[in-house]
Amino acid sequence: MADQIRYDDQVIVITGAGNGLGKQYAKFFASRGAKVVVNDLGGNAFGKDKDGKGESKVADQVVKEITNAGGVAVPNYDAVQNGDKIIKTAIDSFGRIDVLINNAGILRDVTLRNMTDADWDIIMDVHVHGAMKTARAAWPFFKKQKHGKVINTSSSSGLFGNFGQANYAAAKMAQVGFTETLAKEGAKYNIHCNVLAPGAASRLTQTVWAPEMMEVMKPDWVVPLVGVLVHSSCNESGSIFEAAAGHFSKIRWERSKGFLARPDDSLTADLILRNHDKIVDFSEAEHPNGTADMITLLEKAMALPSNSTGSETNLKGRVALVT
Ligand code: NAI
Repeated sequence: MADQIRYDDQVIVITGAGNGLGKQYAKFFASRGAKVVVNDLGGNAFGKDKDGKGESKVADQVVKEITNAGGVAVPNYDAVQNGDKIIKTAIDSFGRIDVLINNAGILRDVTLRNMTDADWDIIMDVHVHGAMKTARAAWPFFKKQKHGKVINTSSSSGLFGNFGQANYAAAKMAQVGFTETLAKEGAKYNIHCNVLAPGAASRLTQTVWAPEMMEVMKPDWVVPLVGVLVHSSCNESGSIFEAAAGHFSKIRWERSKGFLARPDDSLTADLILRNHDKIVDFSEAEHPNGTADMITLLEKAMALPSNSTGSETNLKGRVALVT
């Protein structure tokens, strides 16, 4: 087929690519012409192996599979918390980076009551700190070449919450705010950033799902959406997607029309109680995608002239400081 989606000469970094989803991403992109950095420190689903250390073998195995099939890949064994070293491997090996897939992840499932600081910290460190470290290191290259794609990996646990996963859910929801912000900061440099909440049979899910479920949840069925999102022809950015077992969907925020009170002494808890139904009524909902939307809404509702709150200006000013 002449129109096969391809990534020739693109350099793609995939974290946690020694197992599960990351491994399938790596094999797919390499089979379609990309040069791949296969990052994985080894270790078990909880962040360490039986000796408490990582081992490089899983990254090596994936690289071997790729090169045996005629593809191009190099291993990297750093923890994502040292993301700058992972990006350095891409630059040292291939001279550029086009796509970053932040996929590495672990679990420390425990109810809040029994959660230790260590259970919380390691999950934040791998998922949140790790995604920031790789993205921040890749950013100057993306900016300079005016092209870059980032996928950050969330989870339905992050989007909706899940029993026993307060740490993981918080870290996975953090991917949403992080990505939405990167999408805004990257827009003028043609850097596109999206969030994926996947579902796939892997060692992270093998103790949770029944064998029949594991059968239909092959990681391979998540790969095609990621393939499209990071392709140079795709302009999607700042979006949240779900992919599992052949089902693909997009998730967005919804705000009820709400209830507008006057900001004076009439604004009491009793007033809110009387109007609670309006606040939670989604019949005339809208789908906001920026803090400026809220400001515009308030200006309109209060019949204020545009920008009279000054907030829009402040927002722009703040952005100007960091770009
Ligand atoms: P997996 O356990 O099969 O693969 C994750 C890989 O990340 C492992 O090879 C592991 O060694 C590596 N890794 C862990 N910590 C690392 C670190 N600090 N630095 C470098 N590599 C590290 O897991 P799976 O299922 O493929 O998960 C991939 C991503 O998808 C994770 O972020 C996970 O939270 C997320 N996810 C997976 C779901 C599923 O249904 N499998 C559901 C929702 C989210």
